[in-house]
Amino acid sequence: VLPGTIIGQSKWDVDTPALLLDLDIVERNIATMADVFRDSPIKLRPHAKTHKSPHLALMQIAAGAIGITVAKLGEAEVMAAAGVDNLLISSEIVGPSKVARLIGLAHQVNVITVVDDLGAANVIAHAAENAGVRIPALIDLDTGHHRTGINAGAPALALAKDVARLAGLELVGLQGYEGHLQHIEGLEERTNGEAESLGMLVETRRMIEDAGIPLSIVSTGGTGTHRILAEQGGVTEIQAGSYVVMDTHYASIEGVQFGHALTCMTTVLSKTKEARCIIDAGHKTLSLDSGPSAPKELPGAVYIAQGDEHGAIEFADGHCPLKVGDRVEMIPRHCDPTINLHDWFHVTRGDTVIAMWPVAARGRVQ
Ligand SMILES: Cc1ncc(COP(=O)(O)O)c(C=O)c1O
Repeated sequence: VLPGTIIGQSKWDVDTPALLLDLDIVERNIATMADVFRDSPIKLRPHAKTHKSPHLALMQIAAGAIGITVAKLGEAEVMAAAGVDNLLISSEIVGPSKVARLIGLAHQVNVITVVDDLGAANVIAHAAENAGVRIPALIDLDTGHHRTGINAGAPALALAKDVARLAGLELVGLQGYEGHLQHIEGLEERTNGEAESLGMLVETRRMIEDAGIPLSIVSTGGTGTHRILAEQGGVTEIQAGSYVVMDTHYASIEGVQFGHALTCMTTVLSKTKEARCIIDAGHKTLSLDSGPSAPKELPGAVYIAQGDEHGAIEFADGHCPLKVGDRVEMIPRHCDPTINLHDWFHVTRGDTVIAMWPVAARGRVQ
């Protein structure tokens, strides 16, 4: 089916499974986030690893974002081709083909890279120097997430001094994504955790600046911590991503004020048991890494994945009111990996599909 033929249909009539994006709610989420930072010295650079859509990235920029964060070069290339000209790639760039692509991007747009290893930084710096470009770089700091990032304090200072000497890189700041804090349920516990992670960033920045290396960017934060950072200060950019579409995992934590713009329309394929039915959405449609997605507006119903292509909707009272052919709208548990399973956003206003937007950077994991 050509995407154009779907426009104008009711969301209840689209072929399934279909990813739906409620544009009214997207606009509200973007405005709510923009309001938090409107009069703040901290700026927004939303993470597009969530939505992988230049449409959404350009809406975020139109609402005041200073640029876009991406996880992968492939995402950066898609964004650059669509006119996003200020990008931070939040993952380390390693390997000759990736370094060559980074240099290629640096010829087209303003692209910032992150480094946590002197050897890898050297490779990028030499390639950049040979190509006649200078690539802005952030030292990636481990502020408690224990994924990427050099340790705060003396190790980061030593790396910063070495990177500052590389002609092909321009050391401009620090990144310290505190992913371990984002989904802490209680606001007080999250706030205390943030004070600790932020302390590492602020203190390391001070040490590096005291050594005569000025840093203009300190980038961190997600949907779970952006508001805490807006109050605590000390950073210059926020990388929140999920807020634009939301998911049930983020809805379960205290103090997150965004609406569910992302859902997935599914169809009941089979109903051979009294208490449950089977829908056409399994692992290939709704990601399971953070837990099961939620049936929308079906009290007492839960989703239980049944393999790649199927899921069960089970009713606590032992009676499933749905029949074969009925539609079930699901709210994803984790937005980023769910979006990456789909080719298209069916963009809706009210119940009507008004546009089809490609998930343009879908699968761009390199
Ligand atoms: C490095 C980095 N920054 C920012 C984010 C955005 O966080 P969120 O989607 O929780 O708002 C992520 C998400 O995984 C990330 O990995």
